[in-house]
Amino acid sequence: MAPGLEVTGLTVRYGDSPPALSDVSFSLRPGEKVALTGNNGAGKSTLLLALVGILKPEKGEIVFNGQKLDRNNLAALRKNIGLVLQNPDDQLFMPSVYDDIAFGPRSHGKPEEETRQVIHGVMEKLGISGLEERLNGRLSGGEKRLVSLAGVLVMAPDILLLDEPAAFLDPPSRSRLIGILADLPQAMILATHDRDLAETLCGRELRLERGHLDT
Ligand SMILES: Nc1ncnc2c1ncn2[C@@H]1O[C@H](COP(=O)(O)OP(=O)(O)OP(=O)(O)O)[C@@H](O)[C@H]1O
Ligand SMILES: [Mg+2]
Repeated sequence: MAPGLEVTGLTVRYGDSPPALSDVSFSLRPGEKVALTGNNGAGKSTLLLALVGILKPEKGEIVFNGQKLDRNNLAALRKNIGLVLQNPDDQLFMPSVYDDIAFGPRSHGKPEEETRQVIHGVMEKLGISGLEERLNGRLSGGEKRLVSLAGVLVMAPDILLLDEPAAFLDPPSRSRLIGILADLPQAMILATHDRDLAETLCGRELRLERGHLDT
């Protein structure tokens, strides 16, 4: 069994349009941090959505720790792959901050006290302690992004897929985030236009050009 993620010949299309991803192949080793770059519309978000099964590929396969991603094991594999969407408004769905972050651990049956401790730790690290009782709809853009990150970090998935994680963050939040991500042992794919972020955190770059991986 090959550990990590292995993507082969992935082709994804929206409706009748030309493919948003064409024949994309790459692998990600456990613990490896990779930057996913490319111009607007190159297919970065599409790739991340396909990796968690939100978009169904027209062709190709995704193999995670030796298991091919398909309809039957999607739920199990999703527990191990955490995606933070480009737009936090698409990610946050519970009314309050605390309930949103707690949703994942609760739905996996984690005891409430343990959940509380994990959330407390992650919120403190991200610098958002004190927002627990706030309503998601009334947070600033940066606060929303940090809350949606917290919701994925509390699950400690094997692979983190982060779509523009530093967009709209102020300099202190951005450097806090870089510190946190640098310290995480997990593999991650970081879709970003932020070259400095990519170079600081990632040892390798995957560059998409109109749906093709530039190799
Ligand atoms: N829901 C959708 N329906 C139809 N086409 C879509 C949809 N989402 C994205 N696309 C198209 O697919 C292509 C890839 O889009 P994608 O969002 O993956 O790009 P991206 O690299 O993430 O860009 P950005 O840097 O702007 O976030 C683009 O041509 C886009 O217009
Ligand atoms: Mg995108």
